[in-house]
Amino acid sequence: MKKISFLNLGKHPITNNFLKTNKPKNEFFYNLKLIYHKETKLVSLDNFVPPKKMFNDKYAHRASASITMQEAYKNLAYKIKKKFKPKSILEIGSNDGVFIKYFSNINNVGVEPCKNLADLTSKMKIETYDKFWTFQLSNKILSKHGKFDIIYSANTISHIHNLNETFKAIENSLNSNGIFILEDPSLLKSLQKLSYDQFYDEHAYVFSITALKNITKQSGLEVFNVEELKTHGGSNRVYFKKVNNKTIKISNTVKKHLLKEKNFGMNKLQTYQIFAKKVLKSRKNLIKIFQKLKKEKKNIIGYGATYKSSTVLNFCKIDKKFIKYFLDTTPTKAGKFTPGTHIPIKKYNGIPSNVDYAFLGAWNFKDEIFKKEKKFINRGGRFITHVPSPKIL
Ligand code: TYD
Repeated sequence: MKKISFLNLGKHPITNNFLKTNKPKNEFFYNLKLIYHKETKLVSLDNFVPPKKMFNDKYAHRASASITMQEAYKNLAYKIKKKFKPKSILEIGSNDGVFIKYFSNINNVGVEPCKNLADLTSKMKIETYDKFWTFQLSNKILSKHGKFDIIYSANTISHIHNLNETFKAIENSLNSNGIFILEDPSLLKSLQKLSYDQFYDEHAYVFSITALKNITKQSGLEVFNVEELKTHGGSNRVYFKKVNNKTIKISNTVKKHLLKEKNFGMNKLQTYQIFAKKVLKSRKNLIKIFQKLKKEKKNIIGYGATYKSSTVLNFCKIDKKFIKYFLDTTPTKAGKFTPGTHIPIKKYNGIPSNVDYAFLGAWNFKDEIFKKEKKFINRGGRFITHVPSPKIL
């Protein structure tokens, strides 16, 4: 399979490796390089980081950390119940149970390799397997729970390296009428918004509908519906059925999305090369903003120590010189330091009155944050963003 590299983002740490000290010994770095697969149109990282280095019992991300996401999962659970009336549901990457908890009245099973998270849902009496999703695991779950009406996976399939096995295992676990629902960041949106920070160790892939269609064929799955979501800066919710299931009609949304991607040039290498050039320019302009504000002796902090921001900070070499500290609402991140750039993270307790600028690490929650930080904005505080181009908001 022909793979062509189109962007080298340099050396990067494990995004989830929030450090206990600002002088870590032997911090792990890998080369973050992006690849275009000519035949399947899939976009991936060149070097995959060993999964156990990323997904372990210290995993920091809590899906329920944001009100926006809590609401989104609650609404989706309601929609699935109403539309599909499932009697069984499996979630791959069940995190802290933010979604699967709504299905406690049916056969609900979680798969979550990060033990600290799996323990949370086990305590909620949701049968949770603290294992990586593999064909072997799908057989193990099958023998106990049978096949499923719905398999749901949000922000997880893009993390799994072996996609062939992943999709085959999903097909294996679905009822003949079963539906697989995948949610992951949209490659089209990343290209349009120049959000190159969608690429980091965990995101082995950023999917287009085109690539998903191409790579699932051989596993016996077929896309039948696509919904655009605002979450994670622009995601797709993609519905799959078994190829042999002719009772479910293919919605027009599939054709529409494929056409939109084609028109954007997503089937051409050149589009990715242009993206790469724009990313280099974006870095230059973001650094300029920080340098100018530093010269003016402004007090700059970071807002939301996201995984995404790790790519920006490390790629642009924005560290403690520019950002004094990050504020973040996730309890396990507080008191630690950002990976690679070693910026202290403080527990969020409002933005202190001496802060002039805040870099929006969590730009995907801009609306929620702007609503919450009216006081900061009204007293002249400003946010800095790099999406879709570096600027002060
Ligand atoms: P997330 O959106 O999951 O992004 P990523 O996958 O790139 O890590 O993470 C959001 C982070 O931002 C999370 O650590 C919580 C934090 N956050 C705040 O600190 N304040 C806020 O108001 C919001 C919405 C998020």
